[in-house]
Amino acid sequence: MGNSSGDGRAYGRATGSWDSELVEVGAGTPSGELLRRYWHPFARSSEATAVPREVRVLGEDLVLFRTLDGAPGLVTPRCCHRGTTLYYGKVEAEGIRCPYHGWLFAEDGRCLDQPCEPDRGRNRDSYRQPWYPVVEYHGLVFAYLGPADKQPVFPRYDIFEGLDPDTEEIVIVDHFAFGGPSDAPCNWFQTHENAMDPYHVFILHNAISGPQFDPRLEIWPQIDWQRNDIGVTATQDRELPDGTTLHRITEVRMPTMRVIPTPTLTVLGTTNNLSWALPIDDTNTRVYAMVRKPRGRPPQGLPVYGDGKSWFDLTDDEHQRYPGDYEAQVGQGAITLHSEERLSSSDRGVSMVRRQFKEQVRRVADGLDPAGVEFDESRAVQSVIAGNYIVGPETDLSTIPLAHTLEQPAD
Ligand code: FES
Ligand SMILES: [Fe+2]
Repeated sequence: MGNSSGDGRAYGRATGSWDSELVEVGAGTPSGELLRRYWHPFARSSEATAVPREVRVLGEDLVLFRTLDGAPGLVTPRCCHRGTTLYYGKVEAEGIRCPYHGWLFAEDGRCLDQPCEPDRGRNRDSYRQPWYPVVEYHGLVFAYLGPADKQPVFPRYDIFEGLDPDTEEIVIVDHFAFGGPSDAPCNWFQTHENAMDPYHVFILHNAISGPQFDPRLEIWPQIDWQRNDIGVTATQDRELPDGTTLHRITEVRMPTMRVIPTPTLTVLGTTNNLSWALPIDDTNTRVYAMVRKPRGRPPQGLPVYGDGKSWFDLTDDEHQRYPGDYEAQVGQGAITLHSEERLSSSDRGVSMVRRQFKEQVRRVADGLDPAGVEFDESRAVQSVIAGNYIVGPETDLSTIPLAHTLEQPAD
């Protein structure tokens, strides 16, 4: 229904709709099938224990456990015998035992024991509890929820390889957006595309709420975006008062990763962190950030929100006066209405992320492999380029990622 008066008043406005290719995460949906071609972090290693834990990943309710022998397992809750939930199961050395009739399932779903059956189950090998493969990496548990014949190698990242464990460590920080809670009641794509929206730094994080990041980020930069095979990068170049340039690069990567170098500029050079948005379901998202840091030091500077408070210290009134990423992204609604947006020139990075993601949705629908999956273990380690790079007259530009976006000094 259109607005017949034509003066823009709210009466009679469209109800709006979202772009299902961007937001749906369920099995069988085109975007849900794309997401099921990658590994996703969904729990901390410390949460995989002998006490079964309910988790939701890509809209699927599952049970996470760790055998007494140390193997993490991820299975559907409904027992394949007569359907009670393995949430009440008993974890043993080799697997999880259903509380109802005692069938024992290994971490890969194989049925190892049926105590009420003759010979403890002559046919037990023919039963299998539905399961998913998991991998642990630096304290996070990742799952692959897709087809067996398309399972990619588990990707690793160069910034987290080759640490000296005496001086450095890797920690997991779960915050939805810098400084806020880990979980947010909104679709995952809203936080994903935010990483390619550098303009909001000056408005939301500065003009509206007062400086929340390093003051050098208040300088208005030259902004550009670049598409690559597996994602999109944003470059922001700021001329600093001392004549050097702050060359800041952020990344998003297929499918849910964003690499945002610390906005408090406490780490210069290549980023020390990256993060993943976990689509819990269509309207709930959790963010896990993995951070490399000197042993014993705090992970990174977190932004401040009005009078030097952390996000959690704010009153309701202060959240309204000092909004940050959480407020802005949750404020777009449980699932934002793409049909009602007015994308502008400053949204070019957001448009690039969406276009690339939708192209991959269609590749998978057409039976092809999406960008960024590898099937050869020799290609498992990926390089991260995001960072806060200080570039001066002496700097060798060949050492700076995406340096071609910097203006070359005049002769
Ligand atoms: S319902 Fe699980 S063993 Fe019977
Ligand atoms: Fe932000």
